[in-house]
Amino acid sequence: MKKSKIIPYGRQWIDESDIKEVVRVLKSDWITQGPNIDEFERKIADYSGAKYAVAVSSGTAALHLAYLAAGIGEGDEIITTPLTFAATANMAVKCGAKPIFVDIEESTLNIDFEKIEEKISSKTKAIIGVDFAGQPCDLDKIGKLAKKHNILFIEDAAHALGSEYKGRKVGGIADLTIFSFHPVKLITTGEGGMVLTNSKDFYEKMRIIRHHGAVKRPEIGGWYYDIKDPGFNFRITDLQCALGLSQFKRIRKFIKKRREIVKKYNTAFKNIPQIIIPSEKEYVKSAWHIYPIQFRLEKLKIGRKEIYDLLHENNIKAQVHYLPLHLHPFYKKKFGYKEGDFPVAEKYYKQVLSLPLFPAMAEKDVKTVIKTVKKIINSVKR
Ligand SMILES: Cc1ncc(COP(=O)(O)O)c(C=O)c1O
Repeated sequence: MKKSKIIPYGRQWIDESDIKEVVRVLKSDWITQGPNIDEFERKIADYSGAKYAVAVSSGTAALHLAYLAAGIGEGDEIITTPLTFAATANMAVKCGAKPIFVDIEESTLNIDFEKIEEKISSKTKAIIGVDFAGQPCDLDKIGKLAKKHNILFIEDAAHALGSEYKGRKVGGIADLTIFSFHPVKLITTGEGGMVLTNSKDFYEKMRIIRHHGAVKRPEIGGWYYDIKDPGFNFRITDLQCALGLSQFKRIRKFIKKRREIVKKYNTAFKNIPQIIIPSEKEYVKSAWHIYPIQFRLEKLKIGRKEIYDLLHENNIKAQVHYLPLHLHPFYKKKFGYKEGDFPVAEKYYKQVLSLPLFPAMAEKDVKTVIKTVKKIINSVKR
């Protein structure tokens, strides 16, 4: 097979207008806590339909901040999916909580709503839904269930800025919603993240925790602040938010391009019996952070690893999202999880690869990926 240039599974799209904005801020009075942070928060909150937003240094920091504001701590439990990036559960562990995993639903790859309620205990503090690949989890149903049990619903929407659920953008639906602005995500600030909420109380708490736990006391003096509960430095910079604001201007275009590429992939792969294409519920409009396809391994002479290696040999840098969290050594050792606990997520993991998907992807690169995948499948099908 002829080698092509490297096609990554995801990457940023930075243009001259982004560079100009960052340089403008570099020459201004503020490079860290300046006006671009407030403006970026306002823009993302308005776009996503939330009242408040707090921008931070990463999606992981956003999760940590949301969990702290939610009061998740020692002895608590949170319920989440095993099919997510480690940070979703890691940050709960860092707050002292135990992650209780619930298997995924085969069609959406999101947490299986039907299996959540039986896992709710007196220790459960929150359900953490993850919008896998960009498809929102069952927001209405999970929200209702959380309310019924007087617990919180936190949405990890790191994959889903701009995704829609029953005509509404994600961000203002759960009690707290987090986004990531890592370069492979929907828009980027380099590193960066944000927590959205409609609760003034959470908003005020988060602003304090983001900045060391410092509470200003202007009645004593302009310089004065109290530390009642130590916080963190989770701050993002003005430079990053200038990039975010510039990127945000093109979010509609970015999502449109992603959806067009997904359509091309779906058309190319939908009739291949060895491939399962990802699906989108009829009430969802996904922003498509990643494009995970599954292989019916019983119809192939080789496994997923060999397909991964063949694609990489052809400079197509497909990825695997994700090893289910309960199979990581820490989660096995600390919480006693083991292979077989979540069969749907485990089966999915064994047969999945995320193909390259990013808005700046050239038409000919999409064609190369399709051609190469088809060629590999044809040469190893049973
Ligand atoms: C589902 C999910 N949650 C959280 C994060 C963490 O975001 P960040 O990389 O910005 O810390 C990621 C990043 O990949 C993610 O995919």
